[in-house]
Amino acid sequence: MFRIAPSLLSADFARLGEEVQNVVDAGADWIHFDVMDNHYVPNLTVGPLVCEAIRPLTEATIDAHLMVRPVDRLIGDFLKAGANVVTFHPEASEHIDRSLGLIRDGGAKAGLVLNPATPLHYLDYALDKLDIVLLMSVNPGFGGQAFIPGTLDKLAATRAKLDAYEQKSGRRILLEVDGGVKAENIAAIARAGADTFVAGSAIFGAGRAEDPHRYDSVIARLRAELATVSA
Ligand code: DX5
Ligand code: ZN
Repeated sequence: MFRIAPSLLSADFARLGEEVQNVVDAGADWIHFDVMDNHYVPNLTVGPLVCEAIRPLTEATIDAHLMVRPVDRLIGDFLKAGANVVTFHPEASEHIDRSLGLIRDGGAKAGLVLNPATPLHYLDYALDKLDIVLLMSVNPGFGGQAFIPGTLDKLAATRAKLDAYEQKSGRRILLEVDGGVKAENIAAIARAGADTFVAGSAIFGAGRAEDPHRYDSVIARLRAELATVSA
């Protein structure tokens, strides 16, 4: 019912393949892959080549979070590189419906990412093409930032919208949260309505303290917190 998606942004890039394998062995459901272009966000990370390189290492869902502008050409590249979920920010696409269609036509799940101050009305005419909504609980660009508390109300409002849509359409859209998620707040975030949790520094920071890098105990701790939340 709940998915945990470690963000590779906080992984050790010198041992990236090993990090992917360790975090999947420790029970990660998805691998969250942050793509930044130094244009839409003030940071530069990795592209489709790196996604393609980690693809053979795991059958886990690769969740490509595109913080790039423009998005459409990179959508194709990430589909070819084996991403299973592709999300982008509506401000970064001239034609949101077309970008969502490109992702779904390529066989992946499509999602919109809303920044902390981006209103929910972006979802209104997009629901039929959405498989996932990602709410940013920090401003995109960097790992290790503090969770913005107002995200809890926004999650609840999004949950209500998505539940109403499910009633009507019979289709469930996932609700993911990204930024500042850790053991101390994950249960409250789940209670507010999220079902998919990105965690970068909380997972890789803690696990790296162990040698070899192990993530079992930190992921188990997140799951134990989630287990206190009833559906
Ligand atoms: C921020 C990224 C996040 C980030 C989360 O722009 O989208 O995925 O890695 O990192 P933490 O969990 O450390 O806030
Ligand atoms: Zn992300």
